[in-house]
Amino acid sequence: MKNSLSLPAMMLAVLAACAAPAATAENATDIPTISVAADQVKARISPILYGLMTEEINYALEGGLYGELLRNRSFKGEGGFTYVNEDPVYWSALGGGIISLDSQQPLNNALNQSLLLDAASASDSHPVGVANAGYWGIPATAHTSYTASFYARSDKVGGPIMVALTNSTGAVITSATVTGVSDTWKKFDVKLTTGALTASKDNLFTLTTTQPGKLWLQQVSLFGPTYNDRANGNRRDLMKMLADLKPAFLRFPGGNYLEGETFGQRFDWKKTVGATETRPGHRSPWNYWSSDGLGLLEYLQWCEDLKMEPVLAVFAGYALNGEHVSSPEELAPYIQDALDEIEYVSGDVTTKWGAERAKDGHAAPFALRYVEVGNEDTFDRSGSYDKRFSAFYKAIKDKYPQLQLISTMSADSTPSQRPDMVDEHTYAWGEAQMYDHINDYDNRPRTAPKVFVGEWATHDGWPMPTMKAALADAAYLTGLERNSDVVLMSAYAPLLANVSQVGGKSRDTSMQWAINLIGYDALTSFGTPSYYVQKMFSETKGDVVLPSTGANIPQWTINDKTVPSLYWVVTRKDDNRHIQIKLVNRAAKPQPLHVVLSGLKSVASKGTLTELRTDDPDAVNSIDAPNRVVPRTETISGLSRDFTRVLPAYSVTVIDFASH
Ligand code: AHR
Repeated sequence: MKNSLSLPAMMLAVLAACAAPAATAENATDIPTISVAADQVKARISPILYGLMTEEINYALEGGLYGELLRNRSFKGEGGFTYVNEDPVYWSALGGGIISLDSQQPLNNALNQSLLLDAASASDSHPVGVANAGYWGIPATAHTSYTASFYARSDKVGGPIMVALTNSTGAVITSATVTGVSDTWKKFDVKLTTGALTASKDNLFTLTTTQPGKLWLQQVSLFGPTYNDRANGNRRDLMKMLADLKPAFLRFPGGNYLEGETFGQRFDWKKTVGATETRPGHRSPWNYWSSDGLGLLEYLQWCEDLKMEPVLAVFAGYALNGEHVSSPEELAPYIQDALDEIEYVSGDVTTKWGAERAKDGHAAPFALRYVEVGNEDTFDRSGSYDKRFSAFYKAIKDKYPQLQLISTMSADSTPSQRPDMVDEHTYAWGEAQMYDHINDYDNRPRTAPKVFVGEWATHDGWPMPTMKAALADAAYLTGLERNSDVVLMSAYAPLLANVSQVGGKSRDTSMQWAINLIGYDALTSFGTPSYYVQKMFSETKGDVVLPSTGANIPQWTINDKTVPSLYWVVTRKDDNRHIQIKLVNRAAKPQPLHVVLSGLKSVASKGTLTELRTDDPDAVNSIDAPNRVVPRTETISGLSRDFTRVLPAYSVTVIDFASH
């Protein structure tokens, strides 16, 4: 059924209603038109098209998602420009104490250096202690319970130790006292509960003693409330933001973080499981120390919490500095490590590594379908990936024929073994570049291996993406959805960034890579415009793509190239036959758009419209202005098999309505 207004009359009405100036008196027959063949299906959309990718970069996990609030809890963090572990970095002495690292009588071989506090001058009236300022602050919110724990030993038996959170004036916000410290290591756990206060991050964690003597400390830890109240769990606000993206999978643990700069820095999964105090931690290629408190099992629990399926990336015998192995003998231990890792994830408790997982607290195996071999081996300078991929593929498939193995190079580059899927990364350095990628998969031979776009983003803005970037992201996603019979999975990268201290070359910067999906400091977090585009697309993902063609599609010129300023994809849900029309208007002016749906009896006249728009394409969200660019949803009417709407300037719009 047509709209009751004639098209030219309606055009006048919508143009009049449009606040923006000069939507020129275009002839109705010239306005952009999308014709949708709703009785046909172009492609089925992968149920797992939208997921997450993570690695330890930008203090994404430590100082980010992982709930540990203290920095360098195990005293293995490094200082200086040469990355030496000579001082207890990020810890300071209070009340005239002297602190140093001490390797005598360590807690264990993994945490083999402790913090030694020389509290010789301590007295009842003059406490001496240590303090930690967290990752650019420690959050304190009202009426909140914090869990502090630490290992301690001392040369004087007894000795009360006061554990506290203090605010920027030095006043104690909350405290607890422990006794029973002796000359052997012992673990102490205390709850710190705040009362009424104004939320802030300018707080210190302190441990003080009034007894003169020496005190050794190890794994000094503080957690706030965690998602699902998991012990050793994740920060709530960030988990909630991730949950809102409705991600189908999590690719982990990298990224470069999987490979390391050298073999010694790789994600050596066996060192990331078991009791956290038995994990040695490691330096990452992004130049900071990881305690590995968020290790293999915690990645899997994160998947469990958000109902994501794991996409497990295994180290494949290549580090970023070019160090590699490729002969069968040299590869054997790394292949065995990968097989063990797969068994830890998915083996039942009768298997060696499944039993280890059960011992670590998770008896049920995790469902695993996808294993990725290495990371970005397009950049493999050794030319060894073909051999390495084949060897991993054969060994893994022999034992786990049901697994889908993902190559990190094109299928042409691994001639010895066709991968089940290829991971292709699309970072567009500037929005203009992204507009070159919109049609990347339109002509991909359907016989080629399926694609996982495992990392992608439009770089525009600094340090976080602008609305311009988000518009190009949305245009790119229309291309992925349209081709989702080929592109089965996609993940924006990087996912998380601590924006507390950006810029500078200092090792202390909180962000190694600009343009990320979600930003935060110790207290609050925000989604970027790109985050909201992801959310809008993921929330409204259909099951099939309906074929559509465009006419009179407007163009614009960027960097001397002329490209469309209007992008779209039309999809439908199987169960309720709702149609989703996703539209991107990159133009600086409102854009009238005519939509014609054929092959349908009728469509509901009312629908839901979700819109992300700004007047300023350079607009960003930030800690101080987290909601400058956020979508809004409204019920709209006037839909039919032939309708016209005006898309605002710089906007991403999703219209969802029932069809029959
Ligand atoms: O996402 C940041 C980095 O980009 C990843 O670690 C790497 O895979 C890619 O080069």
